[in-house]
Amino acid sequence: MSFDVGAVRGQFPILSEIIDGKPVHYLDNGASAQTPIAVLDAVRTYETTGRANVLRGVHRLAERATDAYEHARVEVATFLGVAPMEIVFTGGCTAAINLVAYSYGALLKPGDRILLSELEHHSNIVPWQLLRSRAGIEIDMIPVTVDGRIDLKKLPSLLTSRTKLISLAHVSNVTGAMVDVGAVVAAAKSVGAKVMLDGAQRAPHGPIDLPSLGVDFYVFAGHKAYGPNGIGVLWAKAELLDAMPPFMGGGSMIGRVTFAETTWAPPPRRFEAGTPPIGPAIGLGAACKWMRALDWMGAHAHEMTMVQHLMDGLQKIDGARLFGPAGLQNRYPVVSFLLDGVHPHDVAQTLDSFGVAVRAGHHCAQPLMDRFDLDGTTRVSMAPYNDGGDIDALLTGVRHAARTLR
Ligand code: ALA
Repeated sequence: MSFDVGAVRGQFPILSEIIDGKPVHYLDNGASAQTPIAVLDAVRTYETTGRANVLRGVHRLAERATDAYEHARVEVATFLGVAPMEIVFTGGCTAAINLVAYSYGALLKPGDRILLSELEHHSNIVPWQLLRSRAGIEIDMIPVTVDGRIDLKKLPSLLTSRTKLISLAHVSNVTGAMVDVGAVVAAAKSVGAKVMLDGAQRAPHGPIDLPSLGVDFYVFAGHKAYGPNGIGVLWAKAELLDAMPPFMGGGSMIGRVTFAETTWAPPPRRFEAGTPPIGPAIGLGAACKWMRALDWMGAHAHEMTMVQHLMDGLQKIDGARLFGPAGLQNRYPVVSFLLDGVHPHDVAQTLDSFGVAVRAGHHCAQPLMDRFDLDGTTRVSMAPYNDGGDIDALLTGVRHAARTLR
């Protein structure tokens, strides 16, 4: 049976709204995805039948909240194929990377090296620069190819015996290119380095089998994966979490507190100081369950059909140029383009007048823009609930922009 996009769309109330007299052609999923009824219901159930703090109270509501929160951890762990005790809830993907930069970073010595790539999101650059200022580590950078992929041919020459961690986007938030994880892990092993993947743009496209990837750290954000805002995930191998000191101090993350000394709780509690984002975590658990139930083989084929339709359409528009991989191999449905002579923000504004939401600008990837001497791009980022009508509306808007703004 073919993928039933109508049935998926029906689960996302916002997609049938008319906003300011226009339908919703939502193609800014890379910034934030929309939320299905299953997630809205899970959060509402917590708020209306089980709202209390977790891990503290002995009353019924506290137990109900704690059960729901820990069940969410199990859902996230199942989505990633790992153990629940290796899942740390954070405030987002950025918070998760900062946690690793701080806590794993505390184990590094001056002169140790972190290897990033030229296409990283700022959230996978700046935390390492902060660590560099604090701890004297060095940062190396893998350049990108002309079609916006991490150039792994350059990887061997950038690795040294001091390289402790390679931290890369699993999928680029600008070009949609997926990195060859096997090649990165094999290279990292040759010098004893760890590997972290920023899964912000990969997690929204289906379950991930982390043990088979062989990485050491993985992070993703709830709001891009059909969950609420204000929640993210850090997964790390148990032995790494065990070795890492806390990032933030406060309630819940302690063993015993005296004024002379405090001991830490074991992971994941050690890294969840204070009251966690309980409702958002429960919503993310529901989002992971929702994603596990989707036909991803069908969804991915549907997404790639949309990518092809978009690329074919853009190629027929005078002055439109794709930025990123030209084919469908090893990519996810994030497509950046340029319209010669028109600023990406003006393209996005024209598209908005057609009811089409996209992101324009540097996409928090200024080093990548610098490499290609660009101010920015217009980015179309798709989800399984998008359809050919969304892409047609976008192409109509780009044609209009090409006619009226150039
Ligand atoms: N990181 C998000 C994006 O790429 C905000 O759009």
